[in-house]
Amino acid sequence: MLDDWLLSLEERLDPVLLFERFVGNSADGWQARILRSSAATMALRVCRQAGKSCCLATLAIVEMRKGGTVLVICPAERQAKELARKVREYLPMTDLVVERSTQTEIEVANGARLICVPSTGATIRGYTVDLLLIDEAAFCDDDSLIAVLPMVKDCGRTVFASTPAGRTGMFASLFLEPKPEVERIVVKGTEIPRLAARVERLRVALPPTKFRQEVEVEMLGGGENYFDIAAIERAVCDRKALELCLT
Ligand SMILES: Nc1ncnc2c1ncn2[C@@H]1O[C@H](COP(=O)(O)OP(=O)(O)O)[C@@H](O)[C@H]1O
Ligand SMILES: [Mg+2]
Repeated sequence: MLDDWLLSLEERLDPVLLFERFVGNSADGWQARILRSSAATMALRVCRQAGKSCCLATLAIVEMRKGGTVLVICPAERQAKELARKVREYLPMTDLVVERSTQTEIEVANGARLICVPSTGATIRGYTVDLLLIDEAAFCDDDSLIAVLPMVKDCGRTVFASTPAGRTGMFASLFLEPKPEVERIVVKGTEIPRLAARVERLRVALPPTKFRQEVEVEMLGGGENYFDIAAIERAVCDRKALELCLT
């Protein structure tokens, strides 16, 4: 009992310990940096399946422990529900008492709330939030992001997390036009030892440009070929041969 209390006190002071309890493994260095950051705005460009959403769910719980309101924006309803599910799964490992819980909203006894909505939802308005989490931000609709950013309190925080998807849009601009007040964290799959076997599998399975985007988090587009040249070549038909066949 006393041990539990001490652990809880330590976790209260260090979100990394809380994360490690949730995930059941030690946090990577980049995850610890995200969890311990106090930046008002963070932009995370990280390999797919690396553990971004787990970090966001932990940040949500840290804020909920303070009684705050957390708004999560995802590109689609399914992803919003998935993030809420992660938080619901972690909550029993904390001292927070859930009072009301739906697939997309959670309220706890200290007055804290978590609301997860898709960026396409027409109903994202009227909230005042302490923490805004934008998961898969590169795939969220920019107009919705512009609508939610003013809902963050002056002392609140915003975290954009995603794998990249080109060189246009709000998420890309956080990296292409960097501002000193935004803490940027870029993590390639090839830099995460825990993912070594998966990265090698994807290197073989994915078209090279897809691998560069999804694993090496390159922001392709503009002068770069988004599509794999070999795939484009395979897709282009020989018009002369086709005409000969048809005549
Ligand atoms: N430090 C870690 N050690 C072990 N497993 C982890 C760690 N961080 C995340 N995971 C696991 O990796 C998987 C993907 O995590 P998730 O947060 O959904 O990734 P992402 O949002 O980056 O695609 C989950 O099963 C999660 O539990
Ligand atoms: Mg995710």
